[in-house]
Amino acid sequence: MKLLLLGSNGQLGQALLQQLHQPQQSQQERPQFQSLALSHTQLDITDSAALAAQMAAYRPDIVLNCAAWTNVDKAEQQSDSCFAVNAMAAGQLATLCQQHNSLLVQFSTDYVFDGTNNMPYTERHSTTPLNVYGRSKLAAEQLIQANCSKYLILRSSWLFSEYGHNFYRTMLRLAQQQLKLAEPLSVVNDQFGCPTYAGDLAAIVLQLLQRYQQQGSVAYGLYHLAGQPAVSWYQFAQAIFAVQQVPVSVMPLSSAQYAGAATRPANSALDCSKFCDTFGIVLPQWQAALNQLKQVII
Ligand SMILES: NC(=O)c1ccc[n+]([C@@H]2O[C@H](COP(=O)([O-])OP(=O)(O)OC[C@H]3O[C@@H](n4cnc5c(N)ncnc54)[C@H](OP(=O)(O)O)[C@@H]3O)[C@@H](O)[C@H]2O)c1
Repeated sequence: MKLLLLGSNGQLGQALLQQLHQPQQSQQERPQFQSLALSHTQLDITDSAALAAQMAAYRPDIVLNCAAWTNVDKAEQQSDSCFAVNAMAAGQLATLCQQHNSLLVQFSTDYVFDGTNNMPYTERHSTTPLNVYGRSKLAAEQLIQANCSKYLILRSSWLFSEYGHNFYRTMLRLAQQQLKLAEPLSVVNDQFGCPTYAGDLAAIVLQLLQRYQQQGSVAYGLYHLAGQPAVSWYQFAQAIFAVQQVPVSVMPLSSAQYAGAATRPANSALDCSKFCDTFGIVLPQWQAALNQLKQVII
């Protein structure tokens, strides 16, 4: 099977590439895919002619769309650019996947919710994004559902990894600065969500693709897929520093005190039972990945 990976230089793109290229354990255990990975510089997905030409030339069986505008604050000022990548290009991709009979795997976000629920969100909860990024990702979901029949939309949250820009790496960098200044690090304590290790998400996506390859089909649809348990950013930062043994002092901060341009949901924890019931797979707890990351030099 031929797989096209878009946005391959992002953190999830790199996590997927790393696992696609790691040595095969056995013929049965690992999917065998012919893959073409394209970074932003190699293919801008908002270039509709280039995207259509690439799909026609490669004719992928599977498209993994890891390309996205993910700067949540900057999206508030540049909503057209954000929508062009996250919504319009994803919509065109859906149409192209339908034409080429390709499976489209799209990654979406917990920020489609307004965060007022006091329980984790299921796929049945109504969506009311609070910011431009969330609205653009929700628009993508709707365009894909309207234009493509073979899709997996995986809503995840709070991705972290050894790659790219993410909270984990930002915290380690800021902690070093604050230690030099002998000052505490302030972290938001009234927003709750599910940290998700990009490597765990990548491994599960590849398991699904392996089933697709073997069975010719998979239970298409929209699913929540995130690490557990839900915590606040403050609690997540404390867990990172505990594992990495960084002796920085952490101070709780309210959302009102944090000067971000975008409003974020207070509780965007995701209930992943639909995914678990459908596929019999659960994402490992994020703390396990944190412990393993201790060995990785950032
Ligand atoms: N990060 C999170 O916490 C989180 C949470 C929930 C869901 N998600 C979703 O998960 C997916 C992967 O996120 P991620 O954390 O891997 O994001 P990321 O690290 O920001 O990667 C996104 C990639 O897309 C590329 N890109 C941006 N505009 C593009 C364009 N027009 N054409 C082609 N590529 C383009 C970026 O390249 P440049 O950097 O060169 O622009 C970057 O390599 C996204 O769909 C995101 O919405 C992420």
